[in-house]
Amino acid sequence: MDQMINIALPKGRLGDKVYAMFEQAGYGCPSIHENNRKLVFEDKKNNVRYFWVKPSDVAIYVEQGTADVGVIGKDILLEYAADVYELLDLEIGKCRFSVAAKKGAWIDPEKTLRVATKFPNIARTFFDRKNREIEIIKLNGSVELAPILGMSHVIVDIVETGTTLRENNLEVLENIVEISARLIANKASFKFKNQDIERMRKSLAALVAQRREEANK
Ligand code: PRP
Repeated sequence: MDQMINIALPKGRLGDKVYAMFEQAGYGCPSIHENNRKLVFEDKKNNVRYFWVKPSDVAIYVEQGTADVGVIGKDILLEYAADVYELLDLEIGKCRFSVAAKKGAWIDPEKTLRVATKFPNIARTFFDRKNREIEIIKLNGSVELAPILGMSHVIVDIVETGTTLRENNLEVLENIVEISARLIANKASFKFKNQDIERMRKSLAALVAQRREEANK
């Protein structure tokens, strides 16, 4: 049986920060710093194998058990309702989901609200709870364009610094939920590699606590 821990990391800016945390927590894999286009890296000493995957695919690799653990934004976890365990909030990649519209726009509460978003499930759940009738316009990016061009009344999107909204003359109407990177685990792996995964979770949790303490100094 493969006793290495297989870890799916989200390719990109968040992934680099996430890997740095694993390294600091004692799960380094020096070959990952090689400047090439390889996607799989192993470290026999630390017993880890990393895969770089598209952020939105991390949950799929973990759900299938190809990766034992992975790191994923809470946004994707909420949108796809993946059948995995959420083990830890890494407290990085912090942002939030918000509803935004053109600055000063009047929205008729009697009319079906047209909502442009990359995250239809999150938008649908939020407005269902408020009993608000909506029509979803599913986009794959640059959703800010939709209210500007009159295709939708509002957007449901990720806001990090707020720059994109500001520069497009949009404003937040409501915040939906806070987001950050989460450590997730495959359910069977969590059972069969429990000691190893728990040790990893504890090391990362200690690092998160230490960073929080330093930030509060
Ligand atoms: C995300 C999000 C916003 C922007 C928010 O987009 O959808 O557009 O970042 O960040 P800010 O508040 O710091 O400006 P992303 O970079 O994923 O690109 P996309 O819209 O093309 O998907």
